[in-house]
Amino acid sequence: MELISGEIKLRSFKESDIPRLVELANNENIARNLRDGFPHPYTPEHADAFIKRCSELDPQTFFAIEFKGEYVGNIGLVKGNDVYRKSAEVGYFIGEEYWNKGIATIALNLICDYGFNNLDYIRIHTGVYEHNIASQRVLEKCGFVKEGVFKMAVFKKEMYWNEVRFAKLKYL
Ligand SMILES: CC(C)(COP(=O)(O)OP(=O)(O)OC[C@H]1O[C@@H](n2cnc3c(N)ncnc32)[C@H](O)[C@@H]1OP(=O)(O)O)[C@@H](O)C(=O)NCCC(=O)NCCS
Repeated sequence: MELISGEIKLRSFKESDIPRLVELANNENIARNLRDGFPHPYTPEHADAFIKRCSELDPQTFFAIEFKGEYVGNIGLVKGNDVYRKSAEVGYFIGEEYWNKGIATIALNLICDYGFNNLDYIRIHTGVYEHNIASQRVLEKCGFVKEGVFKMAVFKKEMYWNEVRFAKLKYL
């Protein structure tokens, strides 16, 4: 499965992505903006297990992001449970050397179109730590609406952080 817009492609992970995934993901500037489930340090074993889990998902919901033919990051949707099953949470990262080239914005637009049109979701949402201005900007550029601030909802690196919740609906 491939989703393409200009120089950006979302595709399945390959075993050959592992070394580059480790290089890009093993970065404190990325890990500090994600959940603790995103390991730091990030090892080849973590990458291998992650790629295996992604390849078992049916339908496919996690993608490698390519920019000009190079692997540069990850994006994925996690389906909600029970009464939240028509919603998905989106998560993503771009390797630091590729930041501010508009890559996340295009990747997020691609996966939203896929989630709404191919997976029957009507709502895609995420939570961003308040200090993460770049991700909030990406979400706004993609038409996500800020729904509220969950005060001190996040405990990360022995500190409490406010979380800003964003969502985009299929039907407005
Ligand atoms: C957030 C992240 C995915 C953005 O990826 P990206 O490819 O650089 O995003 P884009 O280039 O599409 O857009 C970034 C926007 O943020 C803006 N931006 C970046 N840093 C900023 C800052 N410190 N203050 C204000 N705006 C900032 C850029 O100018 C750009 O906006 P613009 O197009 O209006 O100029 C990337 O920084 C990342 O992987 N961060 C770590 C992981 C993470 O935060 N994941 C999301 C968790 S919710």
